[in-house]
Amino acid sequence: MLDGKNILLVIGGGIAAFKALDLIRQLRKQGASVTPVITRAGQEFVTPLSASALAGSKVYTDLFSLTDEAEMGHIELSRAADLVVVAPATADLLAKMANGMANDLASTLLLATDTRILVAPSMNVRMWQHRATQRNVATLAGDGVLFVGPDEGAMACGEFGPGRLAEPAAITAAITAAITDGPLANKHILVTSGPTHEPIDPVRYIANRSSGAQGSAIALALSALGAKVTFISGPADVAPPAGVTVVQVKTAREMLIAAQNALPADAAIFAAAVADWRVTSEAKSKIKKDNKGGLPVLEFAENPDILATISQMKTGRPALVVGFAAETDNVLENATAKRLRKGCDWIIANDVSPETGIMGGHENAVTLIDETSAENWPRMGKDAVAKQLAQRISAFLTS
Ligand code: CTP
Repeated sequence: MLDGKNILLVIGGGIAAFKALDLIRQLRKQGASVTPVITRAGQEFVTPLSASALAGSKVYTDLFSLTDEAEMGHIELSRAADLVVVAPATADLLAKMANGMANDLASTLLLATDTRILVAPSMNVRMWQHRATQRNVATLAGDGVLFVGPDEGAMACGEFGPGRLAEPAAITAAITAAITDGPLANKHILVTSGPTHEPIDPVRYIANRSSGAQGSAIALALSALGAKVTFISGPADVAPPAGVTVVQVKTAREMLIAAQNALPADAAIFAAAVADWRVTSEAKSKIKKDNKGGLPVLEFAENPDILATISQMKTGRPALVVGFAAETDNVLENATAKRLRKGCDWIIANDVSPETGIMGGHENAVTLIDETSAENWPRMGKDAVAKQLAQRISAFLTS
């Protein structure tokens, strides 16, 4: 698949650097040639000799090596590749890249290159979630840098969460997609995600327990297949994925407008947990406890149904509309009826009873319901559900 392709692999310093060796092996198996560049910190985890042996090529480590400059200068090195891959990319490397710093060989060639860059971050969960890192990720994504991972899971430091280096197989798949464009190239897909917040007064709102994890994972999986994704998100806990167009909204009505504005789209996936009701009596100033009238009485109105509105469009309807059905009882029966009532093509049913731990958790157990069948998928990580769904969407749109 990668025959004749030339990958420049920057190996940063991090506990996951050892996986870069497996990545080299997998890339070569696919027919690519790999030129490793190892940062000073990276050399604490991986020796140039082992990378060189696996890559079957010279390994570069220093900026000021006269021999290297004579044979192949760093500018040349950065441009001879079909793709520059950074794995693992530490928080420090991302910060350098986002700010255009060039104080060692890796950062210099990342600044000098005119080739596309794919980054596989790996760091402690708090470092990943830190605003500074998320700012750098957003800057880099805006600059067109591609991302794969990080994955979620137990980390070497004993914590749990996003920050693990994506598996070498996933990085190889992302490299292949980046070089070959992916099956969903030229397809535009709209994804809604997260909860909505419906204001009661300027400081209080009605919300739900959706973390936005499943929607984020779906957006990422679709973009990894080459789709152009518009990601419309309510106030979620999980950060939006890199490499997609993000539209932040708060209320259901804002989400509907954003979805309509994002059309036309080839497919639309409605993973958001939209609040069904909003408060019509929204107060303009904070409701005080000492109000003479006693306890406040809230009046509700039904929110627009975004999924039903888009599903039932007479013209310009996306070719594939996918809804979710969050149920606590009679999951299959309710979800099947919901698909028909809303008019979407597929509905992904899941049991969100508290004992399942699905709402706000890391795993999901879903049933994919279409016009003719109901297919149970085994319980798996939300990332795995997203990848499987993205494959199905890709098969539908490209058949
Ligand atoms: N949905 C939507 N707009 C709404 C409510 C729901 O787009 N105002 C979408 C959700 O994104 C999801 C699907 O409709 O894809 C089903 O959401 P769910 O909460 O399961 O169903 P509801 O329509 O809210 O019905 P109920 O609460 O009665 O189960």
